[in-house]
Amino acid sequence: MKRAVAASLALALVAAGACFHKTKPPGFTTQETFGPYLQSVSGTGATVCWRTSVASDSLVEYGTTPQLGQRALSGQASEKHEIALSGLVPGTAYFYRATSRDANGQIVFQKSGGPFSTAISRADGLAGKKFTFLAMGENHNHSLVSNFSSVVAASGASFVVDAADQVDAGSDLGDWRTYFDAGKSFYHALPLYMCFSNHNYSDDAGWGYFDIVANPGPTEQWYTFEWGHVQFFAIDSTYNKGGNEQKIRDEELPWLERELARATDGVDDPVFTVAFYHHPTMSSGPRSRWMDRVWGENVLLPILEKYGVDLVLYAHDKFYERSVRNGVPYIQIATGKLAPTIENKNPYSVKLITTQRTILVVDVEGRKMAYRAVNEQGTVLDSGEVRR
Ligand SMILES: [Fe+2]
Ligand SMILES: [Fe+2]
Repeated sequence: MKRAVAASLALALVAAGACFHKTKPPGFTTQETFGPYLQSVSGTGATVCWRTSVASDSLVEYGTTPQLGQRALSGQASEKHEIALSGLVPGTAYFYRATSRDANGQIVFQKSGGPFSTAISRADGLAGKKFTFLAMGENHNHSLVSNFSSVVAASGASFVVDAADQVDAGSDLGDWRTYFDAGKSFYHALPLYMCFSNHNYSDDAGWGYFDIVANPGPTEQWYTFEWGHVQFFAIDSTYNKGGNEQKIRDEELPWLERELARATDGVDDPVFTVAFYHHPTMSSGPRSRWMDRVWGENVLLPILEKYGVDLVLYAHDKFYERSVRNGVPYIQIATGKLAPTIENKNPYSVKLITTQRTILVVDVEGRKMAYRAVNEQGTVLDSGEVRR
């Protein structure tokens, strides 16, 4: 369930009680302080998240200038803080400050964030307004992503897509702190869209992950969102890692096909569609060997290609590879620690980078979506484009 708190332009409001945990959740054995970070940023809304090591309230002051001026408050004591702002203006920069006070009124957390941009409108995207997003993966709570701070800053990106694994252990709050701390120079200002992965699944059925994210619906495990004239699909590719595999798949694939059909039915369609998930459906490494390749080729890829998805992003194997199948670029991202193992070069492989970490920078402008894989020094190692 998405644990969102409605906010308004009014001075303050109180969160729904079900949204918060008074004590640390059962999946977490430590107490940590990190954030703020941004989830589910749309044209008119944004969710500001952070953690504190003590139970405390949640205040977000925000506005279109550094003077802020608007407030959203949850008075409920929690170590988890998740405040949803609403009534925002599309394509607009917002500043904010997140504050928590303990039961004695002492400030235990206060950090400024942003400015971040709300999603530009479909109309502005169609009219040629440019935006940029980043894709990363395999961070595994290494601090290595901090090496990309200057690349991220120079990119002018509006948001980040993370194809996971974000952390080694999804139930370890310390791993999540490391993950967010590594990107603390930009996560406060770049909305983060994550997908589910094996390192979220392995511990406690993803409990920790779902306590960290505030993804859009219909579930937080798979979802879709739009930015301008691009529609994104976050897919859970972990379905056959556990006993309830059929349940997950049976729910997810009809949803995916329905949403892709809607996105391409000729009525109010986006120009581009981008799918991301964790397990590579094409890779020259070992990690696409069993569940991923078989499941992908037989189940997922036919759906994606039937509806003409323009770009597919994933991770899991710890190196960069761009494969092209039926004209669609499938890009495997490795932003964190590299562990390249090449078994057999996959038949769709076009570009392989095994010795450098990369982040993918994607510029969208009108009918062109141009991507480039950039190393920590800002050198472009691979590039391409999709036109519609
Ligand atoms: Fe993985
Ligand atoms: Fe991994």
